[in-house]
Amino acid sequence: MPTPSTQPFCASSIIGTGSYMPAKVLTNEDLSKLVDTSDEWITSRTGIKERRIAAPDEATSDMASEAARRAMTDAGVKPEDIQLIIVATVTPDMAFPSTACFVQKKIGASNAVCFDVSAACSGFLYALQVARHFINTGNRTTALVIGAEKLSSLVNWQDRNTCVLFGDGAGAVVIRKACEEEEPNAQGRVLSTVMGSDGNLVDLLKVPGGGSACPLTPENITSRPNTIHMEGRETFKHAVTRMLEASQQALEMAGLTAADVSLVIPHQANARIISAIAERLALPNEKVFMNLDKYGNTSAATIPVALDEARRSGLIKKGDVILLVAFGGGFTWASSVVRW
Ligand code: UT7
Repeated sequence: MPTPSTQPFCASSIIGTGSYMPAKVLTNEDLSKLVDTSDEWITSRTGIKERRIAAPDEATSDMASEAARRAMTDAGVKPEDIQLIIVATVTPDMAFPSTACFVQKKIGASNAVCFDVSAACSGFLYALQVARHFINTGNRTTALVIGAEKLSSLVNWQDRNTCVLFGDGAGAVVIRKACEEEEPNAQGRVLSTVMGSDGNLVDLLKVPGGGSACPLTPENITSRPNTIHMEGRETFKHAVTRMLEASQQALEMAGLTAADVSLVIPHQANARIISAIAERLALPNEKVFMNLDKYGNTSAATIPVALDEARRSGLIKKGDVILLVAFGGGFTWASSVVRW
């Protein structure tokens, strides 16, 4: 077995980001005409003011492909350079083929291997970790990792508990192998990732119908089993605990502490969850990125969209330590530390 010192240290670096949000805006005011809710309740309980809704003929892969094109332009890579496409989504275009295969076709990335990852709101960080394994230990050097959702297709627009929370959109990153010897100062180096799951809690957040366990039938369709069901309060508590734990573990794995963090980019589900985590990590508001007021919870898309917006608005500088952290149905959770 070769000694570690004889092997070049190679890691995955994020070399480009991109995002796409559909044009249609649905405000809290609009929702108050559909269900018994108010801008005051939604804003104070969640921080959300509006969300984007994809057009009826706009599929998850359409949004994912546009985010991917923007990330490739940012990275300066061509579709034929992409060797791996992973799409994290719970709203695939169809049961199969994978949404990643549709993206491959739409962007012309003919040299890529393509598949989807299903980990709900943690999906992007799960996909990033899978791609890292391919890149750090395999022979693929350039990958697209995408989080994309059309959650409006899973929302019960008569359920005020859930319909105010979710939105549509897509974010993407290009990651590339960067070896220490050749590129000691590579930007966007992913330093660590931790992941966890607790399948005992599957029932707290799910879309129960429309799969093999409960196929849609003319008899059950009226009870809308193919929409999001969530035990909000329980989910909230687990989200705070797990996101905090995962953040601390990912920082420890990277040999860092919360004091080293320049910016946290958390999953955008609820401003109160984000504030609770920031407070426990002793991070001031200016080190915590939030855009859920504009987009709501876009599940796997929140982190890559937020990362792209943070970069483009100049909030991320060379050398910054970025903490990414997510929590979602399963339950699943994950955190990554990136040095920019
Ligand atoms: O992305 C994956 C992870 N997801 C999350 O992390 C989400 C976690 N959960 C949450 O963000 C919050 O639990 C919610 C925002 C979903 C709900 O906030 P809450 O403060 O936990 O409210 P609640 O569910 O305990 O409901 C409080 C009250 C209830 O009325 P009663 O029973 O006290 O009379 C609800 O019926 O608020 C009522 N309510 C609403 N009222 C107006 C629930 N939804 C609405 C609404 N408008 N949209």
